Amino acid sequence: MRRILVTGRGGQVATGLATALPARGFEPVLVGQPEFELAQPESIAAAFAAARPEAVVNCAAWTAVDAAEEAEAEAFCANALGPARLAALCARAGVPLIHLSTDYVFDGRKGAPYTEEDAPNPLSAYGRTKLAGEWAALSRAERVTVLRTAWVHAPLGRNFVRTMLAAGAGRAELRVVADQRGCPTAAPDLAEAIAAVLARLRETGWRPEYRGVFHAAGAGETTWHGFAEAIFEAAAPFGGPRPRVVPIATVEYPTRATRPADGRLDCAKLARVFGVRLPHWREGLARVVRALYGAD
Ligand SMILES: NC(=O)c1ccc[n+]([C@@H]2O[C@H](COP(=O)([O-])OP(=O)(O)OC[C@H]3O[C@@H](n4cnc5c(N)ncnc54)[C@H](OP(=O)(O)O)[C@@H]3O)[C@@H](O)[C@H]2O)c1
Repeated sequence: MRRILVTGRGGQVATGLATALPARGFEPVLVGQPEFELAQPESIAAAFAAARPEAVVNCAAWTAVDAAEEAEAEAFCANALGPARLAALCARAGVPLIHLSTDYVFDGRKGAPYTEEDAPNPLSAYGRTKLAGEWAALSRAERVTVLRTAWVHAPLGRNFVRTMLAAGAGRAELRVVADQRGCPTAAPDLAEAIAAVLARLRETGWRPEYRGVFHAAGAGETTWHGFAEAIFEAAAPFGGPRPRVVPIATVEYPTRATRPADGRLDCAKLARVFGVRLPHWREGLARVVRALYGAD
């Protein structure tokens, strides 16, 4: 297994895979918009035919969580119908599909980290379309590994780390939600975990226990407020901003989409089945901040 089709070129995780896959001896074939469009079946088929992949990693998705509230049909095309088509092509070619999903499939009311056995109950249009994508991919092919991740950040793209550093540079005080908990995940760490999963598939061949849903997020947990404080701490040695970070409640920062109050993911199954563990979120954050300041 060598050639890996990676969708969502330019996105946070796909960009990480462009580095992580060659480091493990894989040859990534990255495809993105406009020529690869999840809502256009012909473009998916054309990308697949051109790449002749031995495995596929689907990183492309409608990720604009709030915008999905007013555009659920479009988000559904990208997040559910697209993965269904990709999975059907994988099934026909007999190659595995690694599909990415989200902690937003849960309602956040469990009060403990979610395992893969817990029942999803999305609160948002984005969460509904991503859950439909999991089901669609799993129903169209046998060799499907769904990796649910959370709070993804990277040195590029739109993410909380970059938003905080930009906002903190202009203001002495920031108000950040302190009653939502989760597991921040550095895209480079997730990309390395995906590469490790693929390396396991290459080594052992496909096994039935690889099929299904796995949680794959940074180890540990925090709140958005705790995350923000850690971001400024990590950036300080590089001359980053040091605003005061004031904890607020979710009700004080209304958004169009409702997020789970507690989307912590238990990632033990990924470690048990694939032998893969993501580093602690603080390590991932340090890595992303170093890259942001060009200190790598
Ligand atoms: N970001 C998070 O916090 C987070 C959390 C949990 C799960 N996830 C999941 O992790 C995966 C990767 O996320 P990410 O953070 O890398 O996302 P990202 O940085 O937003 O990248 C998503 C990519 O998908 C592409 N895309 C969007 N709509 C498309 C369409 N209709 N057809 C083809 N490509 C399309 C985008 O292209 P353009 O750049 O051209 O728009 C972009 O390159 C996604 O499945 C996401 O749902 C993300």
